[in-house]
Amino acid sequence: MIAAATETTSSAIANIILLLAMHPEIQERVYQELHQVFPEQESYVSYEEMMKLNYLDMVIKETLRFISTVPMLPRKASCDLVLSSNLYSFIVSVLALLNF
Ligand code: HEM
Repeated sequence: MIAAATETTSSAIANIILLLAMHPEIQERVYQELHQVFPEQESYVSYEEMMKLNYLDMVIKETLRFISTVPMLPRKASCDLVLSSNLYSFIVSVLALLNF
């Protein structure tokens, strides 16, 4: 679990920094928001202050949507299954990689 949590978080942060570097105008808006919420240098960040970082929140969510940190999920059917559309069927023991 530690590896899963740290790999996903570090990859997401790396992608956020990459996209901010590619879009300086967005980076500037994040910078201005941080200055607005934290006008003075503080070492402690409260929950209430975190909740004010709406633009940064949008940047994080958009980055996760744009560059998926976990692009596929392995799933194994526990019983034979045909979806109502008849387009997909899963047979027990087949490992499905759900790509998104
Ligand atoms: C940007 C950061 C993260 C992303 C993109 C992410 C993504 C995911 C995804 C896609 C799953 C589902 C995996 C599956 O069902 O096969 C998952 C499960 C899980 N993640 Fe994360 N994760 C992140 C951060 C973390 C952190 C920081 C922790 C713990 C401190 C964590 C703990 C877990 C746990 C415990 C599960 C299993 C939940 C369950 O099966 O009920 N994740 N994560």
